[in-house]
Amino acid sequence: MTPFQLTRTLAEDAMDAALRADVRRGLTAHPKTLPPKWFYDAHGSDLFEQITELPEYYPTRAEREILLARSGEIAAALPARTLIELGSGSSDKTRHLLGALTSLETYVPVDVSESALTQAGKALVADFPGLSVHALIADFTAGLSLPATPGPRLLAFLGGTIGNLLPAERAEFLTAVRALLSPGDALLLGTDLVKDERVLVPAYDDAAGVTARFNKNVLTVVNRELGADFDPAAFDHVALWDAEQEWIEMRLRSRVEQTVKIPALDLAVDFAPGEELRTEVSAKFREDGVRAELAAAGLELSHWWTDPRGRFALSLSTAR
Ligand code: SAH
Ligand code: TRP
Repeated sequence: MTPFQLTRTLAEDAMDAALRADVRRGLTAHPKTLPPKWFYDAHGSDLFEQITELPEYYPTRAEREILLARSGEIAAALPARTLIELGSGSSDKTRHLLGALTSLETYVPVDVSESALTQAGKALVADFPGLSVHALIADFTAGLSLPATPGPRLLAFLGGTIGNLLPAERAEFLTAVRALLSPGDALLLGTDLVKDERVLVPAYDDAAGVTARFNKNVLTVVNRELGADFDPAAFDHVALWDAEQEWIEMRLRSRVEQTVKIPALDLAVDFAPGEELRTEVSAKFREDGVRAELAAAGLELSHWWTDPRGRFALSLSTAR
């Protein structure tokens, strides 16, 4: 058995086709949007790791506190032989779980970012001898098929990334996740919680400007992949709290009137001065809402843990 294996379930040309379709649909829509998965090329994954260390960006630290305190309880509740993680990124916080799950044989990190998976995988096999790491380059919103690994299975989705899906997408996603599990398997879900806007907004608009560079990186990706001529300096980073939807919305606001050419799509996109392009939502949750969304997908919440300051929650739910 090889300790590290990387499987590409997303062929390069399928990924290119998906990017083209998303960019055409999003930039011809009103208001303009782009889906968040295109932030994460190698540079974007790097910038995200920098975000996790910013003083304003509390979710990573809060979730790490919970994992540090509760990994033993999680392992006792579900002595998993396989841990699957969607949107695993650096897998850094996951190390607390990997250390606690004493029956674990296989770890399956799933991400769109090949660079994140390769870096994380190399470090993990060095630090967890005996663990088999089967990394998957895949889109977790597009019909995942997982390697046949032994149960019980624990499926982790950390970082509050579920909040980056819109409510209807979340329902579809959770139903698909439930279908990947057998009765008795469990989902470990990280959700950021509703809190004061004065804490939320700076987490997505930091003083050093790292989040602004991350947000604008999606323009650089479209430039490189589709030959577009976006000038990132002609856009401002905007983060605002939508109190009704209870989500943070990330936008790029055109500073001037401009036309952006996207040769690969044979498309020219006009921006009015001040016109905004929505690049991401980051929904914030409450316990009742999470419980209800899980139940609607056939998942029963059994544990709810928060950090001592009540900023972030980890929940464990069981497939019925
Ligand atoms: N779990 C890590 C990283 C969170 S950032 C943490 O908690 O710190 C979100 C991660 O999800 C990134 O690594 C990104 O590449 C990945 N991602 C985003 N959209 C995705 C999609 N549709 N399919 C698979 N991975 C995705
Ligand atoms: N899952 C992270 C979150 O919603 C992703 C994220 C953090 C993010 N900061 C960002 C995405 C800034 C886009 C822009 O908190």
